[in-house]
Amino acid sequence: MSGRAARAVRLDDRRPGRGDILADAVRGLAAEPKRLPSKYFYDARGSGLFERICEQPEYYPTRTELAIMREHVGDIAAALGPDVRLVEYGSGSGLKTRMLLRNLESPVAYVPVEISRTAVSASVARLGSLFPRIQMLPVCADFTTPIALPRAARAPRQTVVYFPGSTLGNFGPDEALRLLRQMRSEARQGGGVLDGGVLIGIDLVKDRAALEAAYNDAAGVTAAFTLNLLVRLNREIGADFDPAGFRHSAHWHPLAGRIETHIVSRREQDVHIEDRTFHFTRGEAMLVEYSCKYTLEGFARLAARAELRVAKVWTDPARQFSVQWLVAA
Ligand code: AVI
Repeated sequence: MSGRAARAVRLDDRRPGRGDILADAVRGLAAEPKRLPSKYFYDARGSGLFERICEQPEYYPTRTELAIMREHVGDIAAALGPDVRLVEYGSGSGLKTRMLLRNLESPVAYVPVEISRTAVSASVARLGSLFPRIQMLPVCADFTTPIALPRAARAPRQTVVYFPGSTLGNFGPDEALRLLRQMRSEARQGGGVLDGGVLIGIDLVKDRAALEAAYNDAAGVTAAFTLNLLVRLNREIGADFDPAGFRHSAHWHPLAGRIETHIVSRREQDVHIEDRTFHFTRGEAMLVEYSCKYTLEGFARLAARAELRVAKVWTDPARQFSVQWLVAA
């Protein structure tokens, strides 16, 4: 084994435990209408299925964001400047991050905060061997809860929170605003002489057909990803969902500006968790995910409410997706 590959990276593990998942599931199933948080999609199988979604021909966001990065990464790196401590919410496939780290001038540290232990470990193992001079500080945690993140050994010029993939779209308006505020304060308090900023991938509003196709791929990978949530709850909290008794459903809601994904009961049935029984009627829909899409103006308004100013926007020629650099207003 080479010295590079052998470099030890300590994983700061603050994953939600069984108790958190149980409490969220029971609360969501007791609600009217029923709902479950999309953050629980990402167990090992769910993370693998999400990677496969990103490769489906209908799922344009990943390849479009990558194309924007390929075209503009020099410009993006120049906007961020030297000696950045890069905090990433989620760690995805690490491809976009790799491009960014390669183009940044002497970045001091990479701090991925990711709920899937498998995903975060794989990502830093890859990036750590590619960039041995950048300090890897992985944290396995739910990034939606504010936590103190590890500081870099070398002082950064600024902290940049990187939030690619339009994952902000998976949060409703209040939660998205709260997260933007959290990112702003993470950037500001992350050490460094500058206030820092947020580099974020935001999916843009487009026609219904393209949006609905992206969340209903012909190969059924998105449906498998959605229904895997039930398999996870069976395994981790002892629920007794029959995954074959439910189906995936995703539709565009133009007034709300979002795709809403539901798990729909195919028949009347009961589901048990510990001593609780949850009744589903035939056709009952349980909300499991929002994927909000923004106009450039709409997103700038949301950012302004978090005291962030859009300093720069990069889009693809068809204006399907955007990468935005936000700084303190
Ligand atoms: C991670 N997130 C931005 C994806 C999205 O597009 O909302 C998750 C996803 N759900 C279904 N397909 C992809």
